[in-house]
Amino acid sequence: MQHIRFTYHHAVKTETVSRYAEAVSRCQRMLDERTGQGSDFLGWTTLPADIRPQLDSIQATADLLRSRCDIIVCIGIGGSYLGAKAVIDALLPSFAWLEGQKPQIVYAGQNIGEDYLYELQNLLKGKRFGIICISKSGTTTEPALAFRLLKTQLEQQTGKDAARELIVCITDAHKGALRTLATQEGYKTFVIEDSIGGRFSVLSPVGLLPIACAGLDIRALVDGAEQMMDVCGAGTPLEANPAAQYAAARHALYCEGKKTELLANFHPKLHYVSEWWKQLYGESEGKDGKGIFPASVDFTTDLHSMGQYIQEGERHLIETVISVAEPEHHVEFPFDEANLDGLNFLAGKHVDEVNKMAELGTMLAHIDGGVPNMKIEMPRLNEYYLGELIYFFERACGISGYLLEVNPFNQPGVEAYKKNMFALLNKPGYEKETAAIRERLKREGME
Ligand code: PA5
Repeated sequence: MQHIRFTYHHAVKTETVSRYAEAVSRCQRMLDERTGQGSDFLGWTTLPADIRPQLDSIQATADLLRSRCDIIVCIGIGGSYLGAKAVIDALLPSFAWLEGQKPQIVYAGQNIGEDYLYELQNLLKGKRFGIICISKSGTTTEPALAFRLLKTQLEQQTGKDAARELIVCITDAHKGALRTLATQEGYKTFVIEDSIGGRFSVLSPVGLLPIACAGLDIRALVDGAEQMMDVCGAGTPLEANPAAQYAAARHALYCEGKKTELLANFHPKLHYVSEWWKQLYGESEGKDGKGIFPASVDFTTDLHSMGQYIQEGERHLIETVISVAEPEHHVEFPFDEANLDGLNFLAGKHVDEVNKMAELGTMLAHIDGGVPNMKIEMPRLNEYYLGELIYFFERACGISGYLLEVNPFNQPGVEAYKKNMFALLNKPGYEKETAAIRERLKREGME
């Protein structure tokens, strides 16, 4: 069986990466022996094996929701929705909406856009819809706000008793407003273990329930992840461990002054895989004044917007390309007698052959332009290889964070905006902060 393959030889020398062998194996041990910073949040390291006993129950709940709903709204933000959206967008047909595929999965609670919520409420009017509300803390404002709105709408449309059967909550086992509400209302729940942080939770019910609701194969996803867990474990030396190599290579590049990593894809369906990856690395490493800035580009689309900068702008970039070896479908380019567009040289080729040459041409151009290039090759875009990719990135992120000497498993910086927002909204308990922030707004002429 093939596996995802990582190569870094157009970015860093093998000798440079090898120099990190000892440091990387120390970081690996910190993960597996749970001796590093944030060691209370390492449940994800063995999640592909640990989640197995829950798969039947997750699938059964998904089947029930699928049979009762035409639309399922996944409410959550950050790690509570990005993993599911990444997998669902990567694997469902690009035009599933228009093809009338049911149930449709839509998202809420990932923003506070009034128009977004208005339009969503309109869409759900009179429809058979259900809700999966996901919040580990159970207190995050964005999902709580969306849940109150949509739960009210669902109860008005179906009555309270029927609505109860259409709502599933995924939250902490004991704490938080969502747990209290779920218990009081009698909603079906799944637990996010304390030891699993939001951005590492895609292989828990947080990601698996919505993914199963979309009709995708969660067992294959977990199989792929478990395979990668075996490949990337502490026992595997650096030469054979792709996650360790990725962590070492990007750390070496960071030490050489490369401060931004672009995750590039040549398949539009991978857009949200990059969004998930950006959160994983951004929230895990961006602290203590350190960390590579994770950015992403969708090629060839963004070659016509960001291509110029990547080729010739400031040289602080690393590019990591996710390449998919085989597309799922074939489209052959036709011959045209008149050849007015001059494209007959492509006649008889599959579109992916053109895409692959664009990919190779782009990599060569960017290497020539001074952008170190790394590549992750997926044999195909399916559940199994996405499972491998997810665990590969998670494992590498843990190692990479420890190499950087930060705690990869906390996110203290996320609180700063919340504190200001609550003070500005006069949240009870924030009276002192409200007075201080109003005073500051006056002083700085920002009222
Ligand atoms: O990775 C994280 O911990 C965060 O991105 C959270 O997932 C996000 O802030 C949402 O938090 P919660 O699930 O508690 O609502």
